[in-house]
Amino acid sequence: PQDVGILALEVYFPSQFVDQTELEKFDGVDAGKYTVGLGQTRMGFCSDREDINSLCLTVVQRLMERNRLSGSSIGRLEVGTETIIDKSKAVKTVLMQLFEDSGNTDIEGIDTTNACYGGTASLFNAVNWVESSSWDGRYGLVVCGDIAVYATGSARPTGGAGAVAMLVGPNAPLALERGVRGTHMQHVYDFYKPDLSSEYPVVDGKLSIECYFSALDQCYAVYRKKINEQRQRDGISEPFTLNDFQHMIFHTPFCKLVQKSFARMMLIDFLNNPNANTESGIYKGLQAFRNLKLQETYSNKEVEKAFLKASQGLFNQKTKPSLLLATQNGNMYTPSVYGCLASVLAQYSAEQLAGSRIGAFSYGSGLASSMFSVKVSQNTTPGSPLNQILSSLSDLPGRLKARKQIKPDEFANIMKLKEETHHLANYTPQGKVSDLSPGTWYLTKVDEKHRRSYSRS
Ligand code: ACO
Repeated sequence: PQDVGILALEVYFPSQFVDQTELEKFDGVDAGKYTVGLGQTRMGFCSDREDINSLCLTVVQRLMERNRLSGSSIGRLEVGTETIIDKSKAVKTVLMQLFEDSGNTDIEGIDTTNACYGGTASLFNAVNWVESSSWDGRYGLVVCGDIAVYATGSARPTGGAGAVAMLVGPNAPLALERGVRGTHMQHVYDFYKPDLSSEYPVVDGKLSIECYFSALDQCYAVYRKKINEQRQRDGISEPFTLNDFQHMIFHTPFCKLVQKSFARMMLIDFLNNPNANTESGIYKGLQAFRNLKLQETYSNKEVEKAFLKASQGLFNQKTKPSLLLATQNGNMYTPSVYGCLASVLAQYSAEQLAGSRIGAFSYGSGLASSMFSVKVSQNTTPGSPLNQILSSLSDLPGRLKARKQIKPDEFANIMKLKEETHHLANYTPQGKVSDLSPGTWYLTKVDEKHRRSYSRS
């Protein structure tokens, strides 16, 4: 099969949010810390009516309905998540309820967990399956979902929640480029969840940022090595640079980190090019940074500032539009990078995107990370798969605007209630069902044996 990749994509995020300017005041931090310092505008969150199962049920059913897919057309379904509510039973098994009417139980795939990386692992698995001898001609379905919540304190404004579902198959309008994925995996304790009775992670914020940057360095180096080998075979001698990505999307814990990451890729290109012109063009005035060692720049504020400035124009073109959902809804964990993809697709026409290469960097603490790229199809005829995926996402800005704003004190109360009750048996959620958007699955009851039941609004 050719051009294996993403055929359709659906995003779900909570119908309520807290405003980051109001949260700054409520938390008693300096004005601008969350909004300017972290680059966050609003943060979506769930009441106790939603959990990881309900988020995934909602997004999968919407994808199936909007694309008129029959249950029997799916041959593989897997879930990437780090929101664990059961140490044994996979979210995937809960999703099998959606296939009961079709009678299809022949669906491979199960849950994959490592921080924010599980969705990418699932996507790679599904793409590999379609390209393999195990493929039976049916679609793969990849679901990523998480509820990202932190204890009160400096990490709380970097939460979020949501889910993305992607249909995978051949002849896709968004095909994963073959043979170029660059991966970096390593053992570190930057962010992890050792307390199984708590929803909150243990996080070393500064270390997690350094790990993110060093993973970016490694993945970009491997990606470049592989794509340069391909280019040489094709007779292209110019080495690959950031400019060969028409769009670049990142796992987005908070938007400022992404702007710094984009600047870092420019720094990497600069250090890799001993003949870079510093008299004019994008590297103008950067001569003083010529002999830097990349590994020694993680906390060099002077370098950061210079490259943020130098890359600003390219960042606005290639990455800023991808941050729509991330700035408005926050870090969704596993779906984060795919929310960035959806944001790009929601804001461009088929003619603008046709033939472009979208670079993607996925990072999950602990750590697992990959850089890969998606090639957008050239077919822009009316009703083409590319046009279909774009039109299905065009309502994203409107859906973000239609959410309900919740005051920070009420948000804090909801977090407190969840802290106290999220692991209880024999529990009936208190969140208002009427606040959920139509078609949302929600938790109705956890019985005395921790069995969960759901309904759809
Ligand atoms: N106006 C403008 N900017 C401000 C203001 C202000 N009034 N006050 C602070 N800032 C800036 C700071 O200068 C800093 O920016 P800089 O790093 O560019 O200098 C930024 O706001 C954040 O301030 P810090 O003091 O660094 O914030 P703090 O250490 O309290 O927390 C952190 C930030 C570490 C990101 C925390 O929110 C966290 O731990 N988040 C979770 C971990 C995370 O997301 N890691 C990323 C990768 S792993 C993952 O995806 C989970």
